[in-house]
Amino acid sequence: MFENIKEGIVYKNLLNGEWIKSKSESTIDVHSPVNGDVIGKVQAMTKDEIDKTIENSKIAQKNWAEKPLNERAAVLHKCADLLEENISVLSDFLQKEIAKNKSSAISEVKRTASFIRFTADEAKHMEGETITGDNFPGFKKNKVSVVHRVPLGTVLAISPFNYPINLSVSKIAPALAAGNSVILKPPSQGSISALYVAELFNKAGIPKGVLNTVTGKGSEIGDYIVTHPGIDFINFTGSTEVGKHIAVIAGMVPMLMELGGKDAAIVLEDSDLRDAAKDIVAGAYIYSGQRCTAIKRVLAINDISDELAPLMLEEIKNLKVGMPEDDCEVTPLINNSAADFVQELIDDALKKGAKLLIGNKRKENLMYPTLLDNVTTDMRIAWEEPFGPVLPILRVQSVEEAIEIANKSQYGLQSSVFTKNIDYAFHVASKLEVGTVQINDKTERGPDHFPFLGVKASGMGTQGIRYSIEAMSRKKVIVLNIHEFS
Ligand code: NAP
Ligand code: G3P
Repeated sequence: MFENIKEGIVYKNLLNGEWIKSKSESTIDVHSPVNGDVIGKVQAMTKDEIDKTIENSKIAQKNWAEKPLNERAAVLHKCADLLEENISVLSDFLQKEIAKNKSSAISEVKRTASFIRFTADEAKHMEGETITGDNFPGFKKNKVSVVHRVPLGTVLAISPFNYPINLSVSKIAPALAAGNSVILKPPSQGSISALYVAELFNKAGIPKGVLNTVTGKGSEIGDYIVTHPGIDFINFTGSTEVGKHIAVIAGMVPMLMELGGKDAAIVLEDSDLRDAAKDIVAGAYIYSGQRCTAIKRVLAINDISDELAPLMLEEIKNLKVGMPEDDCEVTPLINNSAADFVQELIDDALKKGAKLLIGNKRKENLMYPTLLDNVTTDMRIAWEEPFGPVLPILRVQSVEEAIEIANKSQYGLQSSVFTKNIDYAFHVASKLEVGTVQINDKTERGPDHFPFLGVKASGMGTQGIRYSIEAMSRKKVIVLNIHEFS
């Protein structure tokens, strides 16, 4: 199935249906976070090759857009089937490349196949409308606006390391369904898993050039590709730092961006603390906290931390720490510098008086789950996104104070509110400046047909199957002026 995409451990790029090497003869080593081994090398593409790729994508898009929607949807269904047939290769590679534990890796692939199928079906319901002129003063019924949706052209999809398959496909599938061509720039760490998926799309019958890939370090080729005049839409998921940079330099190109988060769990005094503890721990530590939607701070009202913290500790002690193949929830972080950063935040908090309840233990890039109590707002961990398995508890005196601290963050992705009083939960939810509030559960993106969005530094635009198709298509208006007969 994958014999074309590599020579030895050197992976190529998909261009116009063929797997090719870069003329740069330069490659990027992909090291496994599990043991540091080089598990593959990907091409460092040149600017000239990026130009050719974009040119090819633009030509291929015209025919793809002409293909009847039901036929585009049928090809997407085939992609989903192939993904599921290759679940074991893909999930094994995810474990090696990004140290995702076995069951989460399998579920990433399954979820992605379901995502593609739902997208293919949803696209068939993206119907237009007709509007008659007489609704507006001074116009008559003979003016009829026929509104339908058309693709934007060539979509640049840039994905992050933590879901290299799912967060690549959640851009590719809606873009293709809407009739765009796609250029995928995968994360360097995670690129190989994404290239496997590109080959499955290729094998499923996505026409030549409709999906091309570009590999190379974001810091080297990123600015060039995002400012390229051939790109009609940028769909980016990654850090706020890079997202803001792209938004500044890219100019008048429409964009959909999902960025960082500092999701708060607000725990009210009347909540079921055992349930809350379970959800918070799962939300904070699964995949070592390397999720934009991980719970990244607990705001506990009054002294309920005295009860909540021991319950959380019980849950944390049940987490398995170790290797992805042993299906441990807490696995090595993506690299050593990510672990150094998490350590910096822990050290800063401890120096300023936070109480260590568990953790602060590290073996290279494997960080043990760490829980800090009595965290105060002068500590970096109260505000910064660790992207690692550390969770601060901030004790607050009132719900108002919890809301104030929650909203002071630069981020606005999601929040959780734990309480038995659903009416009051709605009141709190209405005050929180985030894209989504979860009542009595952890923060999370799915199910994938829900709208998913961040406000403030957490993103722009709305993702989610229907919303992504809408974002990557536009209205086309044709006005029919019907002759009136007296
Ligand atoms: P990242 O460093 O921002 O990288 C994301 C992607 O951007 C990678 O493909 C990267 O390529 C590329 N890139 C880097 N510089 C670029 C540039 N100048 N122009 C264009 N592309 C560039 O993020 P990450 O470390 O992979 O992911 C972690 C971050 O993503 C966290 O902050 C997390 O919260 C956020 N995230 C958000 C969501 C969400 O839905 N809100 C989901 C997942 C992750 P290289 O790998 O080659 O550098
Ligand atoms: O960080 C990736 C983001 O999209 C979260 O997805 O499903 O882990 O909430 P999920």
